[in-house]
Amino acid sequence: MGLTVTEKIIADHLVEGEMTPGSPIALRIDQTLTQDATGTMAYLEFEAIGLDRVRTELSVSYVDHNLLQSDFRNADDHRFLQSIAARYGVHFSRPGNGICHQVHFERFAVPGKTLLGSDSHTPTAGGCGMLAMGAGGLDVAMAMAGQPFHLRMPEVVGVRLVGALRPWVSAKDVILELLRRLTVKGGVGKVMEYFGPGLSGLSATDRAAIANLGTELGATGTVFPSDEVTRAFLAAQDRERDWRPLAADPDADYAEVIEVDLSALEPMVACPSSPDNVVPVREVAGRPVAQVLVGSCANSSLRDIAVVARALEGRTVHEWVSLEVNPGSRQVLENADAEGHLRTLIHAGARIQQCGCLGCIGMGQAPPTGGVSLRTFTRNFPGRSGTKDDQVYLCSPETAVAAAIRGVITDPRELGAAPEIRLPARYIINDAGILPPPADGSGVEVLRGPNIRPLPEFDVLPEDLDLEVLLKVGDNITTDHIMPAGSRVLPLRSNVPAISRFVFESVDPSFAERAERAGGGIVVGGDNYGQGSSREHAALAPRYLGVRAKLAKGFARIHKANLVNFGIVPMTFADPADYDRVRQGDRLAIPGLRRALLAGAETVTVRLGGGGTFDVRLDLGERDRRILAEGSLLGWVRARLAAEA
Ligand code: F3S
Repeated sequence: MGLTVTEKIIADHLVEGEMTPGSPIALRIDQTLTQDATGTMAYLEFEAIGLDRVRTELSVSYVDHNLLQSDFRNADDHRFLQSIAARYGVHFSRPGNGICHQVHFERFAVPGKTLLGSDSHTPTAGGCGMLAMGAGGLDVAMAMAGQPFHLRMPEVVGVRLVGALRPWVSAKDVILELLRRLTVKGGVGKVMEYFGPGLSGLSATDRAAIANLGTELGATGTVFPSDEVTRAFLAAQDRERDWRPLAADPDADYAEVIEVDLSALEPMVACPSSPDNVVPVREVAGRPVAQVLVGSCANSSLRDIAVVARALEGRTVHEWVSLEVNPGSRQVLENADAEGHLRTLIHAGARIQQCGCLGCIGMGQAPPTGGVSLRTFTRNFPGRSGTKDDQVYLCSPETAVAAAIRGVITDPRELGAAPEIRLPARYIINDAGILPPPADGSGVEVLRGPNIRPLPEFDVLPEDLDLEVLLKVGDNITTDHIMPAGSRVLPLRSNVPAISRFVFESVDPSFAERAERAGGGIVVGGDNYGQGSSREHAALAPRYLGVRAKLAKGFARIHKANLVNFGIVPMTFADPADYDRVRQGDRLAIPGLRRALLAGAETVTVRLGGGGTFDVRLDLGERDRRILAEGSLLGWVRARLAAEA
């Protein structure tokens, strides 16, 4: 039987396990990336392992999430990241150099390699034929230490593209259509692999946009083949040497094949407040718009900026719209300048912002109260923008610019003939914003400000648990609910005692205080618990507050892995109907949980304080169980290293 592209990359990197969907496997990781919001902690964790230098082929530390220097803390963090990168052999992409995924795609993505990033949109690099996956910072620290990445062998779903996109319809509409069909849970446990005759019409950055939002499907990754389009992109980046062809075998066997006729697609939009709440733009046309943001790791390539600029030629931004453009990288900005797009944007009234995430993670650019914000971004979870009652819609750059001109949501096809976009055969390349590490970093001093606090120590799992249900929540709780982002919180990411005060703030502001008063406890959730970003603080900070277990109908993959890494036992209801029997404030007792974990038990019985019992499932691999028993991944690795010494 032939292999898919995904299976070929996995076979090349398999360290442990069988390539049967669902079985535990371990993969060698070639490259890692971190961004500032997760990076400070990831490097503290790497440092705690005790190695002298990273063991990957390439590791890069980006600074893109928080570029606001509102006090000393953020500037201190940036200095810490720069110095610790030099100390341990990591490339450092300076603040303002761009969003990690855009810069990585331009300068480092290599077909056939594996990439692990402490950011959920790391799969963006799959547009270049990589197997790129998001994970928690601790997993990335382990990968930097040369440890394999553990996951379940994903199912490989084929997405067969036929036809060609029509004018004013672009890559974002392709992935919005998939989100409409499959929902935010449709990709869980899967890698989405694209193939078919429609591929040749999609540029490398179009593919990156699709791979990027594969994360919103809940997919482990998205993989495109590496073909002549990939080669041309790498050549334009002066990296043709990194190219190698990579295609599925003709008899490759996909778990399922989904067909998308590109010619049948029309402009789409995800309505508030979920990326899968997708309808054709024409169905919501006419709604007044207060803000239009172009940027984020989904849509901030030169093509995306060029589309907006070309559509604005001879036009101006509507008087009631704030059009803001966040170029994805300094390279995009320089090239947009050279091609005249920057001037067009400025002349038409756009506000040009820094190359970075900014409004996407709630760092500035909050929309007005109740106002509609149309964004080319990745997520529209409630409140993520920084405005409590936000109305965020997600769309393509084409749909964004149409609204910026008309002041209302508009099907871009109403603008007339679509502008022709020509991309340079060779980009202007300037790597001055990327600092390679010295050959020997042992003499580099790591610069720590007062906001860099040491990693907390976590104790081993007690034999028996008897805990209060601190909080009961419903389905689709995101990591934003658990650990919000935004300008009050992000600067505290390397200060766990301080950041833990914000856990579940938007759900129950008294959570942190109650958790401490109760001496810890358990959180009960519905389905798809922990969806959204990969932020490990959504596990680390609750653990600091004493949360020892989470019981849900189902978990999102990255969050579940983060829970294990920080010693919070993820358990699922054996019978989902038992969810209704548990109330906030109940006590739940699980005698012998540690022993059951180590014995490989698949279910354990929970005793309800008020009387009665029910079973919960421990859907965990052997390694997960040992980590949980040891209290954290760091504790487990240290114990192993000590045993080896
Ligand atoms: Fe940044 Fe938003 Fe992407 S925060 S990495 S642009 S999802």
